[in-house]
Amino acid sequence: MKIDAITIFPEYFAPLQLSLLGKAQEGGLLSINVHDLRAQTKDIHHTVDDAPYGGGAGMVMLADVWGNAIDGVIEDGSDLIILTPAGRRFTQEMAQELSVATHLIFACGRYEGIDDRVREHYSQQEYADRNIRVREVSIGDYVLGGGEVASMVMIEAITRLIPGVLGNPLSLAEESHNEEGYLEYPNYTRPQEWRGIEVPPVLLSGNHGAIATWRSSQARQRKDANSN
Ligand code: ADE
Repeated sequence: MKIDAITIFPEYFAPLQLSLLGKAQEGGLLSINVHDLRAQTKDIHHTVDDAPYGGGAGMVMLADVWGNAIDGVIEDGSDLIILTPAGRRFTQEMAQELSVATHLIFACGRYEGIDDRVREHYSQQEYADRNIRVREVSIGDYVLGGGEVASMVMIEAITRLIPGVLGNPLSLAEESHNEEGYLEYPNYTRPQEWRGIEVPPVLLSGNHGAIATWRSSQARQRKDANSN
């Protein structure tokens, strides 16, 4: 999979070089390229934004600068992801869907977002004919300072689903067997007693049927307790 992230803060993406994602890039399973949006500006001040038409607070990022940056990376089959709190909610299901993509472009807006004509332009039929798809995505109902952290959340969730990226492929297999798509029961490891709290005896019983039953009942209880 190839990933291009476009941002005015390329330094934000340094953590993607760590751990399993760093290894996946070294091994050639994944290539992540971060692009500085300001490199596309032509004025001396490297302007990336301007006041909104119609008035209001904040600044809007310039369509032309974004268009130049996206034109530089887009290709047939690209998925263009525009991060915005107004987007469709990112879920494990969307992560699964995007994990089979060949090329993801993350457009990380700041301020009051990107001039909407950028979304409109790349949503046109001529791009659809090239299998290019545009999505506005939000990682949750809160407002971040920009799309950088949101895109890193997405990149981590998506790329760990690519075969070979995760250290232990059995962890993925177990997740996909779980109803919800992820592990939800409580886990314990040694020692058997810590600060007076014992590991639930069923987990020491060796009875795999009883363990599975206990885990699914715990997962349900935990989900109910944490549901908003
Ligand atoms: N930019 C600002 N807030 C965001 C969010 N919640 N999700 C995606 N992009 C954002």
